[in-house]
Amino acid sequence: MYKVKNQSTQPIQDFPVFNNWNEVAYGWYFAMPSKELSLNEVKALEFCGQELVLYRGTDGKVAALDAYCPHMGTHLGKGKVVQNTVRCFFHHWQFDSEGSCTKIPCQKDIPEKIKVPSYSVCEKFESIWIYPSRNPSHSLVNFQEIDSNEKILIEFGKKYERSCHHHVTMINGIDPQHLKTVHDLEIEMKVDIAEPEDGNRIDITLTGKIGEGKIREKLARYFLGPEYSYSMRYDHGNNGFLTLMKDVAFFGQKWPTLHMIFAYRPLEKGRMMVQPIYVTRKRTGLLGPLISAFLLWLTKRAFFALQGEDGAVYENMRFYPANLLPIDRPISQYIQYVNKLKSSPWKLS
Ligand code: FES
Ligand SMILES: [Fe+2]
Repeated sequence: MYKVKNQSTQPIQDFPVFNNWNEVAYGWYFAMPSKELSLNEVKALEFCGQELVLYRGTDGKVAALDAYCPHMGTHLGKGKVVQNTVRCFFHHWQFDSEGSCTKIPCQKDIPEKIKVPSYSVCEKFESIWIYPSRNPSHSLVNFQEIDSNEKILIEFGKKYERSCHHHVTMINGIDPQHLKTVHDLEIEMKVDIAEPEDGNRIDITLTGKIGEGKIREKLARYFLGPEYSYSMRYDHGNNGFLTLMKDVAFFGQKWPTLHMIFAYRPLEKGRMMVQPIYVTRKRTGLLGPLISAFLLWLTKRAFFALQGEDGAVYENMRFYPANLLPIDRPISQYIQYVNKLKSSPWKLS
């Protein structure tokens, strides 16, 4: 059960959306890897406070509906896929991907009002994503450096849970102070923030000088040059697209960037899950597959190293925003961005 402690001495600051368990903001939420839903399969899914069913029709397309049959409320997850509809177990009414009833076996007439709420679904990065309405404001974003028609390779990391709001853990990638105190990296850095007016994403790029004192810094300078730079592209308040090794030259050659997605989803008040997804370009040629596999491996190593140093700090972190400093500007701006997101009808319990 979700409880807020220290309310009388350190009252929680209520934001409209940021760190607010009463709201599920619109956005594309990761459901599962595409391969986990076969053709003609239906699955029950507890999703951001909703009971949903997800099914893949005979045409291969995935549909997401509210779980309860509008006849007598049977869970449609017990049903069966019949062509491109899901058929309720109980009296065999059928519903299509928009939730419209297409068949009632005992009569010809189908009253128009019979409908199940349905949601938009997309498949990207070999994953199924669900949006909490039928009219998404945008398509799921991509990395700045990867063209949408480029072939990519994906690897799913082990998903994990935290008892902290995902908006809070998402600041890890853009918290300049902790780069020095936790990760021992130079913090005198340039911060570049770009927020297109449509509100569908915010790009935060941090560039810092690599130190010159320690051996690991000398090595890094030798191989990577005098600066390091990385960026976090936030797609609404629930997906972080991280690009590492930006603008790095390796023996005069531009080093390929490393990419991973942090896909977040609230589970219930006080608990959320993260799905790490490692992404790289699918390279061809003799050495192409080997290079792609190596870059995925490198991305994982970088993530494990950084997560190992501070991941657990977010367990039970309350987030107290009263005393943010000028150096924390990326965080304040991210909070402002999230607070402009719209709340969906979904609610956590
Ligand atoms: S309860 Fe689903 S068809 Fe009757
Ligand atoms: Fe960190």
